[in-house]
Amino acid sequence: MPQDPALPTEPSPEGSSSDQPPGEPLPPRWPDWPPNWPEIQKSVASVLRDGQWGHYHAKVTRRLTEQIAEQFGSPHVQLCCSGTAAIELSLRAAGLKAGDEVILAAFDFPGNLRTIELLGLRPVLVDCQADSASIDCQEVMRAASVHTRAVIVSHLYGTMVDLTELRAWADDQDIILVEDACHCPGATVAGKVAATAGHVGVLSFGGSKTLTSGNGGAILTADPRLAQRAQMIAHRPSDATPLSALQAAALLPQLTRLDEQATRRRQAAAQLTQLIDSLAAQGFANLRPAAAGSQPDYYKFAFLAPSETVRNRVVAAAEANGFPLRAAYRSSSRVSPRRCRRPETLPHAERLGKCLLTIDHPVLAADPEQYQAIETLLRQLLAAQQ
Ligand SMILES: Cc1ncc(COP(=O)(O)O)c(C=O)c1O
Repeated sequence: MPQDPALPTEPSPEGSSSDQPPGEPLPPRWPDWPPNWPEIQKSVASVLRDGQWGHYHAKVTRRLTEQIAEQFGSPHVQLCCSGTAAIELSLRAAGLKAGDEVILAAFDFPGNLRTIELLGLRPVLVDCQADSASIDCQEVMRAASVHTRAVIVSHLYGTMVDLTELRAWADDQDIILVEDACHCPGATVAGKVAATAGHVGVLSFGGSKTLTSGNGGAILTADPRLAQRAQMIAHRPSDATPLSALQAAALLPQLTRLDEQATRRRQAAAQLTQLIDSLAAQGFANLRPAAAGSQPDYYKFAFLAPSETVRNRVVAAAEANGFPLRAAYRSSSRVSPRRCRRPETLPHAERLGKCLLTIDHPVLAADPEQYQAIETLLRQLLAAQQ
């Protein structure tokens, strides 16, 4: 049978079966990451061959920009060197001044808080919704002050945030809504493609992401003024935060297969959701499902452990077994009030920082024939830690 290009050509370290004692169940396998697809190798080789790899403004980079614009339905796309740089470009393009406030969730990619601080802006932390990794949009609206100039909303771990009401409010208040879709390029919520519901959307093509070029990012916007300012900041006239031709060449074939891969990840996430539901008596819990009608994608599948102690034991056991099950981000709920404005307590964000476990997306891309073996291993890891 021909090899599924989504599966490793060589057994991955996790999936190696050559030294397996006879009679033992085979350990689960999942595709290597980054993907070793022939079309990526062909695309990169072609850019090496025709010399585009050595150009400032390569055709392939323009093609990637156009492909993202078309696939995401965004009139303006600016590629850059990382998701972090894309967040920074978004805030700078929004014309924020030192001391302006930016609201974000106390449980988020920690770099977002750092970027706000680095730009001399003041972070305002709000809580997440209960049992979800999503920011609480009502809390955002309550927390705003006359100094608030922007909000960052991240769609984390497949818990998609419906931005309809928040966008209308932000428009009314003249506040810039930055939508961080680094976890879920191509996902949809409330009829919008993630990264197109705010004023600016952000993507990451970092090494662990579902679209990867090792490093890389993009900002998407329908606002020509924001697009122009972002371009002015980046191009001086050399591109100060570029994505290279080789990276663009590696990304193009991944964009073509994004839907197919996302469907596979969603199927696996549905199976894992059932597995975690079956462990409710042991205190494990799923996050609240994404808003109805949304089509989430999963950079990581996340679920809650009953306590920080159990979470840490599970992580140690997973590491010992070579299974990519990890602790999620640390919460910013205890960041000093000197560094930010925040309420006394941020209980949901705090719990996420202590109890959230995540499984890397390559596991979700496994052949469905592997699900049983993955579930068996995961059950063993979770059951042993009580
Ligand atoms: C939600 C979120 N935003 C932003 C980033 C930053 O992306 P990058 O690693 O490309 O800088 C990440 C990276 O993990 C992320 O998860």
